[in-house]
Amino acid sequence: MPKTAIHFPAGFLWGTATASHQVEGGNTNNNWYQWETQPGKIKEGMRSGLACNWWGGKWKEDLDRAAEGHQNSHRMSIEWSRVQPSPDRWDEDALEYYRQIIRGMVDRKLEPMVTLHHFTDPLWVTNLGGWETGAVLSYFERYVKKVVEALKDYVKLWVTINEPNVYVWGGYMGGGFPPGKNDMNLALQVMANMVRGHAAAYRTIHAAQPDARVGFALNYRDLQPARPDFPPDCWMAGLQAKIYNDSFAGALKTGKLDMAFKKISIPEAAGTQDYLGINYYTGDLVKFDLSAGGEMFGRRSTPPGAEMSETGFIAKVTEGMFRALSWARKFGIPLMVTENGVEDSDDHLRPRYLVEHLEQVWRAANYNFRVQGYYHWSLVDNFEWERGWTQRWGLWGLDRETQARIRRPSADLYAAICRENGLTQEMVERWAAQSAEKLFP
Ligand code: FCB
Repeated sequence: MPKTAIHFPAGFLWGTATASHQVEGGNTNNNWYQWETQPGKIKEGMRSGLACNWWGGKWKEDLDRAAEGHQNSHRMSIEWSRVQPSPDRWDEDALEYYRQIIRGMVDRKLEPMVTLHHFTDPLWVTNLGGWETGAVLSYFERYVKKVVEALKDYVKLWVTINEPNVYVWGGYMGGGFPPGKNDMNLALQVMANMVRGHAAAYRTIHAAQPDARVGFALNYRDLQPARPDFPPDCWMAGLQAKIYNDSFAGALKTGKLDMAFKKISIPEAAGTQDYLGINYYTGDLVKFDLSAGGEMFGRRSTPPGAEMSETGFIAKVTEGMFRALSWARKFGIPLMVTENGVEDSDDHLRPRYLVEHLEQVWRAANYNFRVQGYYHWSLVDNFEWERGWTQRWGLWGLDRETQARIRRPSADLYAAICRENGLTQEMVERWAAQSAEKLFP
């Protein structure tokens, strides 16, 4: 039998994604550092510490790995607390260091995609009330202007805010992120301010760089009714999806933040998205349940039979990737998979997770869904927020003691995929044999 293959559109962006606090090390001036120092906040009392020591120069060898692995783009983030350590001070050396990293990407033929806010806030912003009040907005706008002016010669692809929905759920609905609050009203306020912050950033970036491409990265969860023929479950799954998946992106289209129970008009946000970034990892079933008050009467559970990641954090729900991209078409703009991956220290699942999700992205591309890139989370194991170092998301492993990188088979598989701009039957048979039947029946 002749072997077969699937290919992605020409010019497709292949990369990995990282974030400042997770890889840089030595970030001591932000809300996450403060969180880490409080007992009980991070699993096993772990700290970000040196992380992957990018601030000490390890970015060079990691970007070499990305480039040698045939990636043509990299998504990274800028640490606001480094660039602006206090409200009245810019750290030009820090900005220069970011310039070096980004030039390093360009030299390696990795198109930079730069995130301006990836979960961390400078401590002085936290002390001002974080995103709970409008005070943050003019500061954020100035920070964005400063960064864009410094980097616009090299960067065209911008992500304003990473996963505002996770920031809000994590920090304001008991999800284990700082500031550790559980307050619906504050959650709404923060979400609205993040919409405003995005809109301001969008305009600021375009004013400095008219040909910039600006979006945000949404954490999309595939929320399906537990009993598809039971209307209350369908209604509840729809309601949760509306709040979790639709609200932020919707506001950037219409200028109205629709959180189901409350609608907030933010007219300046309308039309502030050049592409939609989707971080897709997993899905849940939603069951109407009167005893689940804390979950808005929709109890979430893992789809039965779904394979779980190493620590049980996510279920492998591959079709959810296609549904995410299909859902996103309604915004009428290009799409990027800005994150996707799985925690897996011994790489028993990652190769299958990777090829099966990519097949879903390919399906979407074949329907002309305008998907233009895929960024695997992540290049190398890094500090995984409140889960510390207990989860390993890298194509490359990290030995924290020695800072040595440990090649996982997935690194070779992903390199082969990036080089081919697609997946061949040989690749899948070699690295993810159990998925071969599924991809190439
Ligand atoms: C996403 C975050 C990213 C990383 C991955 C595993 O929600 O954006 O920083 O933690 O999950």
